Amino acid sequence: MIIIKSPREIALMKEAGRILGLMFERLEKEIVPGMSTLDVENICREVIDENGAKSAEYQYYGYPGYVCISVNEEIVHGIASSKKILRDGDIVSVDAVVVKNGYMADACRTYPVGIVSESKLRLIEVTKQAFYNGVSLIKEGIHLGDVQSAIQKTIESAGYSVCRDYTGHGIGTHMHEDPSIPNFGKEGNGPILKEGMTLAIEPMVLMGKYPIRVKGDGWTAVSKDGMPTCHYENTIVVTKDGYEILTKI
Ligand code: MF3
Ligand code: CO
Repeated sequence: MIIIKSPREIALMKEAGRILGLMFERLEKEIVPGMSTLDVENICREVIDENGAKSAEYQYYGYPGYVCISVNEEIVHGIASSKKILRDGDIVSVDAVVVKNGYMADACRTYPVGIVSESKLRLIEVTKQAFYNGVSLIKEGIHLGDVQSAIQKTIESAGYSVCRDYTGHGIGTHMHEDPSIPNFGKEGNGPILKEGMTLAIEPMVLMGKYPIRVKGDGWTAVSKDGMPTCHYENTIVVTKDGYEILTKI
């Protein structure tokens, strides 16, 4: 069952989303070569704490981090470490779920570290574009499959692969609510969107082939072929004639 949120609930999610916007603004300026992923996590912690919020990822099924930080071939759920140093040419994604007053918002950005190859910059650009090509179709009455199909087409026509193992999702008082939103699908399929549905749309893209594996830490998912990967996500609310992004300042 897809839960419809009231205007009051949407305002609360927007407040959680605003904190993510502040976090991303700082990361954009502060991520530089030589930092550890734990340094990145500490910036996120500071912003979340300063704003009276909490990480919904911390201790989620035992997840040890405050946010997920994934580098290059790591596609999702990387765990921050003082030993993992960001180097010139890396790309790093920061995926965070913030909860404030019981309501959540979920978003992810992938940042270039220092000077990054054209091919990685294109991967970042296409992943973001896949998100926008999908959500630009959203308004009350369309099928969720229309969004999924647009995301898939953007990724595959660029020569990349869609991650099959993780999906977008509804979100609200819980991190993962109905519906599940794979980054592939068919137009005209799936549930019909209604005003007040809040969805985390999150293309996860592989430059190479799609099979992934989870590392020995039980969390970090990496591309099997070792090729770079990318992730971009926002929480949105469906409106009568469009959508609004909740995870921004
Ligand atoms: N942020 C992820 C998502 O988009 C979930 C993180 S799993 C956790 O759904 F264990 F790190 F919390
Ligand atoms: Co998500």
